[in-house]
Amino acid sequence: MEPIKFIHLTDTHMNAPQTEGHFAPFKLADKVKQVFRHVQQYRHNPSFVIITGDLSHEGNTEDYEYIRSVVDEGAALLGVPVYVVLGNHDHRAPFREGFLHEEPSEQAYYYSHNIQGLRLIGLNSQVAGQHHGMIDEEQLQWLRDELSVPAEKGTIVALHHPLLEINGMPSEHVLSNREALGDVLQGTDVVGIVAGHVHMHNVGTYKGICSVAATGTAFGGALADEEHYSMVDVCSYNVVSVLSEGVTVQTVVMPGLQEEYVRFPVALLAAQH
Ligand SMILES: [Fe+2]
Ligand SMILES: [Fe+2]
Repeated sequence: MEPIKFIHLTDTHMNAPQTEGHFAPFKLADKVKQVFRHVQQYRHNPSFVIITGDLSHEGNTEDYEYIRSVVDEGAALLGVPVYVVLGNHDHRAPFREGFLHEEPSEQAYYYSHNIQGLRLIGLNSQVAGQHHGMIDEEQLQWLRDELSVPAEKGTIVALHHPLLEINGMPSEHVLSNREALGDVLQGTDVVGIVAGHVHMHNVGTYKGICSVAATGTAFGGALADEEHYSMVDVCSYNVVSVLSEGVTVQTVVMPGLQEEYVRFPVALLAAQH
């Protein structure tokens, strides 16, 4: 089998230049543009890019219009499609209007694409107004039907909330119905699950499937002490290769100062990422 490679980005938390967002002063869209340039300069030659949610920080229609322009610019630079899924900071109606240029609606955003024989399934784990994530029954049924026919090079599932527990993080960060999703994925052609949300790198297996959470482009997070969470100026992306013998995940950390942006009580974590 001819290997296939893609870039996994997550948690871009972008604001349009004109919006007054919580993270607007940090110019997080510039980090995403820098990542696209880095991918090109280092000749990773991916077949596609996937961004696993928290595309925006506040999620206004203007933000999504701007995010669409950043994504289109990146897609043109690399000459490959850029796919996205929604995170807890995203909002469906403004996303549909500003990013997809559709009528605004609260309809869940999920899909399946075949790219050179590899199937990419994007799921909507975001629950309106909530920090936690889950995959609703309608999507699970759609997913069962979709996976009933295998793809030539297997399937990658992309969603915002991770399936694995993260050391030191409260378990509410994990997809709340991961068992139900895992039961649908187990025994199918799914070779990898890519996620974000936790702003920390975490790689393992869930029900035997390679499951990854990436730090993302906006900031890295860590528990600074028993009571405080620290957000650090980190920016990274993953190069994921799907080979006949399995999946490899290579983390690329962008050069930077890695200074602390902010430190706040752990109890406020849900409001920040
Ligand atoms: Fe998130
Ligand atoms: Fe996030």
